[in-house]
Amino acid sequence: MENLTEFLDLGKQPIANGFLTKDQLKDNEYFYELKVGFNQETKLVSIINQVDPPLMFNDSYPYNTSMSTTMIKHFEDIATKIKNIKSNPKVLEIGSNSGEFIKHFDKSLSLAVEPCGNFAKVTENLGIKTYNRFWTHDLAKEIFQNHGKYDFIYAANCICHIPDLIDTFKGVKDLLNNEGIFIFEDPSLARVILNGSFCQWYDEHPHMFSIIAIKNLLKEAGLKLFGVETLNVHGGSNRILAIKDSEIVSESESVNRNIWFETEIMKLDQIQTYYDFADKVKKSKKDLVNILNIQKSKGKIISYGATAKSTTIFNYCNINSELIDFITDTTIDKQNKFSPGQHIPVVSPDINWDEVETIFLGAWNFKDFILNKEKEHFKNKTVITHVPYVRIV
Ligand code: TYD
Repeated sequence: MENLTEFLDLGKQPIANGFLTKDQLKDNEYFYELKVGFNQETKLVSIINQVDPPLMFNDSYPYNTSMSTTMIKHFEDIATKIKNIKSNPKVLEIGSNSGEFIKHFDKSLSLAVEPCGNFAKVTENLGIKTYNRFWTHDLAKEIFQNHGKYDFIYAANCICHIPDLIDTFKGVKDLLNNEGIFIFEDPSLARVILNGSFCQWYDEHPHMFSIIAIKNLLKEAGLKLFGVETLNVHGGSNRILAIKDSEIVSESESVNRNIWFETEIMKLDQIQTYYDFADKVKKSKKDLVNILNIQKSKGKIISYGATAKSTTIFNYCNINSELIDFITDTTIDKQNKFSPGQHIPVVSPDINWDEVETIFLGAWNFKDFILNKEKEHFKNKTVITHVPYVRIV
């Protein structure tokens, strides 16, 4: 990526969701240098050496929205909100995963775009026309020829995955009806900085959005930011609402409030903020390795949730199975595999909990849910998180 001033070096990293079978451990694993930079002009924060999307989003992509009751409810709620704005809307979803959002709309009026073959099949089987392709301006032109324009275009945890944002937004603009609304949700850069959650940087997140940068980029593509909602999912996200810039709608108070917060309080428009953050990340690494070493002398350590985020943590901090005995995860596709890069075994949570001394929260974004669900298993054990700083919960 051009015009980026580097501020953070997270070292050599593998494909974050590339969990390996025993046989695959023999193969040469793909690694790249995870360095993060700030564009002083657009204020966008991006990974410098971005990974080619087909290496991540392919027929064996493991992340399945339907595995999370939180996300199922989340998609039901936003679908209801959309139907309250316009009954029987024509809806397009970019990055439909297992169809948990798009399934709530009239199938004959809906369209899904999903580059991962395994999930494109799932939405197709739900009876929704699905393009098993990456989203591009060219694909938008093709969709326009075949299906016309849309009342709503929705994308959750997807736009920040796409390297070329201007091409992406131009495609959206061409497919929106007049008065059509583009709604997208992605992790919030402000929350990453506040949470010290450097783990939000991995191959699938080439960009981490501030509202300041989003406003600039949408404008460049002929779209106008008119609303921002704060969400708790995925460790803190923003829901962005945009319309064509030809529409006469004034920015909502939420836009001004967020821009004020990001500029005046967080100073996300200044490179120094990111240099300061990088210092905190180095401290987080030191503290985490220290506390895990202390705990290791007392007994077994496990990590709870084989997240993409924990791939970044373990590879940046050089944490392998000598320190963390294994990772538990409810996702069957991840079980009996090995974590990317550090090759820590992933197992089902159905373990002998009596043998466990310490639990690291790899899925820290579900902390309250997990602590409540695992009350019995976690009793008298040490639970550690690195968010917003390394500490015992
Ligand atoms: P997610 O939060 O989507 O993280 P990422 O985007 O970084 O991969 O994934 C959560 C993971 O944690 C997922 O693999 C399922 C697992 N998990 C459990 O094993 N048990 C639980 O109770 C919860 C909430 C999640």
